[in-house]
Parts: sequence; structure tokens; C-alpha cells
Amino acid sequence: MMASIVSRALALLCLVVLASALSGHDQTSAGALIFVLAGQSNMAGRGGVCVDRWDGVVPPQCRPSRSILRLDARLRWEVAREPLHADIDVNKSCGVGPGMPFAHALLTSSLLPRQPPPEIGLVPCAVGGTSIQEWARGTALYGSLVLRARSATAAGRLAAVLWYQGESDTVAREDAEAYGGRMERLIQDLRADLFSPELRLIQVALASGEGNFTEVVRQAQKGIKLPNVACVDGRGLPLEADHVHLTTKAQVKLGKMLAEAYLSLTVMAD
Ligand SMILES: *[C@@H]1O[C@H](CO)[C@@H](O)[C@H](O)[C@H]1NC(C)=O
Ligand SMILES: *[C@@H]1O[C@H](CO)[C@@H](O)[C@H](O)[C@H]1NC(C)=O
Repeated sequence: MMASIVSRALALLCLVVLASALSGHDQTSAGALIFVLAGQSNMAGRGGVCVDRWDGVVPPQCRPSRSILRLDARLRWEVAREPLHADIDVNKSCGVGPGMPFAHALLTSSLLPRQPPPEIGLVPCAVGGTSIQEWARGTALYGSLVLRARSATAAGRLAAVLWYQGESDTVAREDAEAYGGRMERLIQDLRADLFSPELRLIQVALASGEGNFTEVVRQAQKGIKLPNVACVDGRGLPLEADHVHLTTKAQVKLGKMLAEAYLSLTVMAD
């Protein structure tokens, strides 16, 4: 009798130890709001990057907070800090992106319930220079996004995907014209593979492009008609000297715009 209680207690203890080892050192509480950050360079963040070097400037809206965690490349939670994509978009110099200012804007919003205290889990997945076909179901990027998102949901609820991509699809007319259909396909595939048929997705309509068909991609982005999909317009946000990448200031503004769009999608649903 005693032996069986002891062995059961031991088994339980092992499970608890295993579970906490699996979820890493900085754990999110079970109620964290999880956001996947995906797309190309402007989601990965190039704010403050000049000639492949980040200036290291972190504005107050991007500072680390105990309430904002990130899933690192090894699937462990840690306190999030800039550059958020440093261990994900590894072949590029990363700087400030929209993720941190987005999380800060959510945390200070009166629309987010205060009890229990909100906690945000960011799942960086963006990689610079990638076209939408490189994100289609079956690709390495798609597989990695799904794996990271699924792994993250052990710690909370998948609240939305933030998507900023398409600059690479502005070079060839065929790609720009196919963008809308490819994006809708991607959203439907993600919803199926993340077991989240109502998953919210917020896109950024391009602020810049690598080619001549930026307007075609922007119109496709604004024209997505699926439910629970919103689009914020990046047009006019200040760009770095390369005319492609958002400045740090622009990323702070974009983070707020994304938070407002997320909250209005959420409020509409409730
Ligand atoms: C980085 O470059 C290596 C070598 O070209 C490549 O195999 C890898 O996929 C790249 N990773 C990312 C995240 O771009
Ligand atoms: C855009 O169009 C101009 C004028 O037709 C052309 O010279 C340029 O090469 C094009 N740019 C790209 C990236 O295709």
C-alpha cells in the first residue's frame, strides 16, 4: 500500500519535472496569448540596420518585459528582446521589427482583460528574402512555422498570425498576380494544420517592394475575403535608405497598428 503510494508520487514528480524541463526555464503561464510572426525581412525586423549592422537602439516601446516571452529557435521560452529574430533569420543582420511594439501596445490596451495579468508569447518565424511560394504547405518554412506554433500552444492559446511578406513577389508580374490566391491557400492550410479553423491573421499591405508590381500585391492583400483576416496598410511608413525596410520608428508605429487591428478583430468576435 505504502509502496504503491510512494511509487505513484514518484511517477507524478517525474512527470512534473519532465514537463517543466520540456517547457524550458522561463515558462509562460498556461493562459498566454500566443502570436506567430511570419513573413520576410520587414517582419523579421531591419529597423536600425545600416550596411548589415544594427545600431542597437531599442526604443521604450521595444524594451524587454517579464510579460513578453519569445519561443527561441530551440523551442524554449525566454524573455523577449530585440532583435526578436536573431536566431531565426540567421543569415541576415536583424534589427527592430513590429513584434515587441505590438506586444507592448496590447499589454497597455484597456481592451485586454486585466485578470489574470496578460502574458504574451511571441513565436518569431520570419526569414528575409522569401517569396510566398517558399511558405506554401510542404516547404521547410511552412513546416517550421507549424512545428513552432504547435509547440508554443502548450503554453497558451494561439491568438493570431501576424503576416508581413510580399516584397519578393513584386518582381515578376505572374507572382504578383498569383499573390491573392496563394495567400488564401496559405491561410486555409495553416488553419487546417494548426487545428484552428477560425485562426485570426493580420496582414500588412506592403510599404515597399523589390520590383515594379508592388501595387498589384497590395491590392491582392487588401482583397482577401476570408473571415477573421484583417489588413493594416503599411503605405507611407518611413523607410531606411535602402527604400525597402521600415525604420525603427516605423516599426513602432506598425506594432501599434497591428495591435489595434488584432483588438478590433477580437472585439468584433466577442
Ligand atoms: C542560411 O544559409 C544556409 C546556407 O546557405 C541555408 O542552408 C539556410 O537555410 C539559411 N537559413 C536561413 C534561415 O535563411
Ligand atoms: C521596372 O521597370 C523598369 C522600366 O520598365 C525597368 O527598367 C526595371 O528593370 C524594372 N525593375 C525590375 C526589378 O524588374
